Amino acid sequence: MAQDITVIGTGYVGLVSAVGLSDFGNRVTGVDIDAEKIERLSRGEPVIYELGLEDYLQRNLESGRLTFSTDIRGSISRSDIVFIAVGTPESGDGSADMSFIHHAIEDISHGMNGFTVVVTKSTVPVGTNRWIAEELRKRAPEGKFAVVSNPEFLREGKAVQDFFHPDRLVIGYDTERPEGARARKLMEDVYRALYLIETPIVWCNLETAELIKYASNAFLATKITFINQMANLAEACGADIHAIAKTMGMDGRISPKFLHPGPGYGGSCFPKDTKAIVSTGEEFGVEMSVIREVIRANDAQKVRVAEKIENSLGELRGKTIAVLGLAFKAETDDIRESPAIRIVEHLLDGGAHVRTHDPEAMDNFKSLFGDRLSYHNDPFEAIEGSDCLVILTEWNEFRNLDLTKAKSLMAGNWIVDARNTLDREQAKELGFSYAGIGR
Ligand code: UDX
Repeated sequence: MAQDITVIGTGYVGLVSAVGLSDFGNRVTGVDIDAEKIERLSRGEPVIYELGLEDYLQRNLESGRLTFSTDIRGSISRSDIVFIAVGTPESGDGSADMSFIHHAIEDISHGMNGFTVVVTKSTVPVGTNRWIAEELRKRAPEGKFAVVSNPEFLREGKAVQDFFHPDRLVIGYDTERPEGARARKLMEDVYRALYLIETPIVWCNLETAELIKYASNAFLATKITFINQMANLAEACGADIHAIAKTMGMDGRISPKFLHPGPGYGGSCFPKDTKAIVSTGEEFGVEMSVIREVIRANDAQKVRVAEKIENSLGELRGKTIAVLGLAFKAETDDIRESPAIRIVEHLLDGGAHVRTHDPEAMDNFKSLFGDRLSYHNDPFEAIEGSDCLVILTEWNEFRNLDLTKAKSLMAGNWIVDARNTLDREQAKELGFSYAGIGR
């Protein structure tokens, strides 16, 4: 049976979830305090760029199953299920900033009417869902609500695909209480479409669901950091990290995914979630030393790439450096915690002139760096007159970069390819001095 759902927050996770849940046949209202955003979404404008999102948004708006509103409490009062999908950014001490969650709980406790299932999609520290239940208990009678933890595993750029074809669905609920069992039944209805395509569904308690999310992200961050460090060793001793990673990946227990060396992980999830799990460990008196070291080593990897550029050129002062790729990964305009920020900062501090190009992320980079560097719509325009060409993001269009043309435009002959995307043999034949990662 289709359910009436409110999704609080129409950011990246909330919007994709609202659109996806309505596509499953539920009646969904996406709510937000940002009136302009709600108006644009109501017109079918997706606000963020995510492959396939626009089509799904428009199709579900037209069907009447999906609406958007700023009337948060009104919408909650008409819903059986309320998804919380607000941000939990990193606060000053590395823990997750919970102020948006607090606001959402305030709205839910005032708006809810009849039995309501409160589902947390936002990534929240262990214990948060129990705390939410306690807060709600202050206002609503026992038995009138249930709290569910349903973490998301959406990758930027592939969020729509990930929503409709997840590797698994995690649903944590209060396994000890009758409301928990009632919530479980409603969640089965919400996700019936995924159940029908045999998506594995993990039913567990609240703490387990919360920790699954952090453990998964921290593990992937660890895997990347491991291969980065191994790449540094391979580089020092004359081995080839690509052959190593490929062969390691042939072992089914390891798998070849997330073994691509680079300038360090970035983005909106790994950096904040690794820090948050370390602070959760502190709170419970458990030393998360592996993850603590991952955070440190990932920082060091960014510095290492910056120093690699510096060492190639001898010194930075007065040198012109073309940086291709500013986003934290390809297919996104997102620069949050992008290695490019740290690396470009280092180059500028050393007195270099930095010329940049990115297919999507230049506006965001500009709002951070302003006129301290130059921005070019064409990669060759950025390359013109440079002493060193640096690749920081694995955009497909850089893979086939015309190196002959690049060489003819450059003043120097250095390439630092922090994603190993270019053809290094060809680069060497053309007379470039080529430095990759781990080979
Ligand atoms: C990630 C998780 O994959 C997702 O499940 C979670 O919900 C949110 O965080 P996302 O941040 O979109 O998704 O990016 P992802 O594709 O996982 O990449 C993260 C970072 O790791 C990027 O900076 C990427 O360049 C880097 N990376 C990834 C590597 O350096 N090497 C790899 O092999 C894989």
